Amino acid sequence: MAERSEPLRCCHKDHFKEKFKDEDVVTVTSVEQETVELNVEEAYDAFRIDQSMLQPVLQREKHFQYLKKGLKHLSESYSCLDASRPWLCYWILHSLELLGEPPDECTASNICQFLTRCQCPNGGFGGGPGQEPHLAPTYAAVNALCIIGTEEAYNVINREKLLEFLYSVKQPNGSFTMHVGGEVDVRSTYCAASVASLTNIITPTLFEGTPEWVIRCQNWEGGIGGVPGMEAHGGYTFCGMAVMVILKKEWMLDLRALLRWVTSRQMRFEGGFQGRCNKLVDGCYSFWQAGLLPLLHRALYADGKNSLSMTHWMFHQKALQEYILLCCQNSTGGLLDKPGKSRDFYHTCYCLSGLSVAQHFGGGELLHEVIVGDVTNRLEPTHPIYNIGPEKVAQAVMHFLKLPVPQMKKN
Ligand code: FPP
Ligand code: ZN
Repeated sequence: MAERSEPLRCCHKDHFKEKFKDEDVVTVTSVEQETVELNVEEAYDAFRIDQSMLQPVLQREKHFQYLKKGLKHLSESYSCLDASRPWLCYWILHSLELLGEPPDECTASNICQFLTRCQCPNGGFGGGPGQEPHLAPTYAAVNALCIIGTEEAYNVINREKLLEFLYSVKQPNGSFTMHVGGEVDVRSTYCAASVASLTNIITPTLFEGTPEWVIRCQNWEGGIGGVPGMEAHGGYTFCGMAVMVILKKEWMLDLRALLRWVTSRQMRFEGGFQGRCNKLVDGCYSFWQAGLLPLLHRALYADGKNSLSMTHWMFHQKALQEYILLCCQNSTGGLLDKPGKSRDFYHTCYCLSGLSVAQHFGGGELLHEVIVGDVTNRLEPTHPIYNIGPEKVAQAVMHFLKLPVPQMKKN
């Protein structure tokens, strides 16, 4: 089932009623918000007056060329990401899989060899060859290898050592540090649970105390902060909810408060999401925030909430697609945070991931597509927990399930 070709929300006269009102209290924040709304309005106006554009168009070919080039050559501006090289592999590979354009065999094999060089002798992956193991690039490397999904890719992962690395960053209170001696926050619990569940290395003690620690990060706002007592933020909320889903403990969270918080983060005028209360819209939250809705839908359904829709997520799917397609595309390829910002691979990955979430409702037998624009705008679906193709998740899980869970050596 698909739904298409109705008038756009951003072209409706009532759309302007959704603009921010400062109630005559001018602050730095209110001025920034109004400036962003003006830029967004300009992008929506440009579409309205461009008679050649009846529907928003996903610039597939341009994005594909930008991504393909990024796998071979990165400009100087990427030198600040020298400790995030597995991330670049993941962001590009996942964007390509959403576009239905997997890399050729030789490129895929080169990526496997590169990630092998990023793997550390004591387990886990560093941000580049010779760097210390860190949970964030470990998550990115495992996701990238599962997207490639070949024997060569799976064989890169040293599961025994990976488990040792996870234990080396596990804390007595159930949390994890990002690296040995590093900071603790909820991202690390998600990165650890994601790689451990995909590669079948979960032991009975690895996540002992973790759900209890994560629920302490849900605060009075309803969302989840980086650590107990911190402000709720979309990035951390996604990580916190996803780790609870992996550990099958999502019911321990206050799901209704979480739902209220995340649905309030979709911006009334822009259509995209903000990361936290009173902040600005940003294309990357199209995944971190909107990606929570499939997780919440499933959790609330399992909790017996049978008044849930069977065709739509609980956010404005079309408004988000309009924001991504009309405000977040760079005309020469790649996607971005908001109008006026430059493109980058992180925003390309998470704008496309959010666009995919907004296009595809459901899983298994129950599917419903909501595509803004022509059907050529359709992306491949993404797995709401791991943010890689659902069939790539199934394939990796099946592969690693055939292997025994490694035994931790007692020292
Ligand atoms: C605030 O940035 C951003 C954070 C505090 C962290 C965001 C966390 C993620 C995106 C999740 C990362 C996930 C993994 C798996 C490692 P800001 O103040 O620049 O942005 P804002 O104004 O939009 O809040
Ligand atoms: Zn962003």
